[in-house]
Amino acid sequence: MHRHHHDHEHDTSPEALREALSAAFWDERYGGSDRVWSGRPNQRLVEQVADLTPGTALDVACGEGGDAVWLAKQGWKVTAVDVSEVALAKVAAHAEDEGVGDRIKIGFYDALADPRPAGRHTFDLVTVSFLHVPQPDFADIYRGIADAVAPGGRLLVTAHHPEDVTTGARHDHGPGLMFEPDRVLATLGADDPDGPWEVEAAATPTREQATEDGPLAVRDTVVRLRRIR
Ligand SMILES: C[S@@+](CC[C@H](N)C(=O)[O-])C[C@H]1O[C@@H](n2cnc3c(N)ncnc32)[C@H](O)[C@@H]1O
Repeated sequence: MHRHHHDHEHDTSPEALREALSAAFWDERYGGSDRVWSGRPNQRLVEQVADLTPGTALDVACGEGGDAVWLAKQGWKVTAVDVSEVALAKVAAHAEDEGVGDRIKIGFYDALADPRPAGRHTFDLVTVSFLHVPQPDFADIYRGIADAVAPGGRLLVTAHHPEDVTTGARHDHGPGLMFEPDRVLATLGADDPDGPWEVEAAATPTREQATEDGPLAVRDTVVRLRRIR
């Protein structure tokens, strides 16, 4: 059967976009025997954590655990959470293989069911990489995630920048899913009742990604905030 891929034929309502944030969707995605992601840590995490002293870390929407395993190897005590139990089982296996099974705890987290992944103000570092949520849900979910940052601790948000759609680096998965630093700063900025936050990084750097047609520059959104108290 011929399949159409024109944007106007996709259901991009917030309801339809939320389907792509379900355990069923991601369990199927992670269900194969192969890794979906590379197993290596995200470049932005490596860059942003370089100047921090290891403590407790929460990796939100951890996927297969490339970031969590890397953090554990750097001396962090890591909790890794995701909506996909299939992904979490892979994290646990990966952690055992790498000899850091005792430094990583795994846990179920569904951002749509309860935006708070952990207890209030508990982690020295909360990192969330590439969790793109419908715009109407963004403030609730990212405030819930930020709630887990301890006083003096950091929130690191890494995401795909919307520019990638125009450069051909990425398809648009729905309106408003990818975001710029401003969306994070507007949510967790001066008006956040749970602040105040110090902005330690708000940047849109590019990196080269290998594609079938050769290397392509992709742009990331990177925001690092410190909870002042
Ligand atoms: C693009 S992947 C990024 C994975 C990992 N952070 C990384 O950088 O490799 C998005 C992740 O978000 C998780 N996710 C999707 N919907 C979620 C939800 N409602 N609550 C929590 N995690 C969710 C998926 O299971 C998936 O692992």
